Amino acid sequence: MVQFNFQAPWVPILNNCVSNELAATDNNPPFTTFQLATIDSKTGYPQNRTLIYRGWLFNNKSSNVITFTTDKRMEKYQELLDNDKVEAVFWFSHIRKQIRFRGNVRLLDSEHQPSIDLNHINSGEVVPIEPNSNGDGPAAAAAAAASTLSRVQKQPLQTSLLSPSFVEKDSTQDDLTAGQYTPPTAEEWQQELDRQWNGLSKGLKTTFRKPEPKSLLTEEKAKLISKIQRGVDGKKEEDGYKNFAIGTLFVNYVDYYEQDKDKRFVYELDNESHTWTEEEVCP
Ligand SMILES: Cc1cc2nc3c(=O)[nH]c(=O)nc-3n(C[C@H](O)[C@H](O)[C@H](O)COP(=O)(O)O)c2cc1C
Repeated sequence: MVQFNFQAPWVPILNNCVSNELAATDNNPPFTTFQLATIDSKTGYPQNRTLIYRGWLFNNKSSNVITFTTDKRMEKYQELLDNDKVEAVFWFSHIRKQIRFRGNVRLLDSEHQPSIDLNHINSGEVVPIEPNSNGDGPAAAAAAAASTLSRVQKQPLQTSLLSPSFVEKDSTQDDLTAGQYTPPTAEEWQQELDRQWNGLSKGLKTTFRKPEPKSLLTEEKAKLISKIQRGVDGKKEEDGYKNFAIGTLFVNYVDYYEQDKDKRFVYELDNESHTWTEEEVCP
């Protein structure tokens, strides 16, 4: 049976690691970081960088979707338009735990809203997943090369992500019959984009109106950056919104290593039943 509105087995693990590490460091710094690796399709090399963990999609642990924010003008954004496959790694140094997540990132911004396909749940049967244009193998590689930038991001994802208002309304969902589940609406995606933007500090909001990231630093741009930092560039907080994007990481594989106990576990999402398997493996 397909599971929905449930916490994947690795969700409490990430939650506990985040809170235990923050407690061990006395909330200093008061945020959690991780590294996100994407593929640069032009060079074929992975690119890796540190990001702030922004919690669960729709602020709901049962979404099982990890979020981060970024600037649309940054390289990772372009890379995610070409190829949504990523690996993210969290290292909690005080409690000595590492969690690696593999999955697909769908962008949420003024131009993109993740497309969720619930047909497999609503029909009560598994619908074969369309081959991904950025899948494995030569045919997929050729398809990826031919794909337009937005095609990857527009492809529906077969997940069990439900509309937040649907989840709230139907907390006793055992009674539901096939055909009744609804994915997040356009309005709910927009509300999530606004929730995350409004959750940013004033200082962080200013970064979204800075000159093009990674463009050559000229004297003029240095002056503008200084003005932005001092809040005297004559622009409003909302001026950065157009460059603001959320990455939503739909996880399908987790590798959890407890360095303190020398124990290692892998969690894998079964694409057909949408259930998770857990195995302890040799470290
Ligand atoms: C502690 C720390 C936290 C960061 N958090 C973010 C973040 O949440 N989002 C982001 O886009 N960049 C963040 N950065 C900057 C990125 O590491 C990176 O330099 C930037 O995103 C450009 O990467 P790209 O050109 O590969 O997209 C952070 C850097 C550090 C050191």
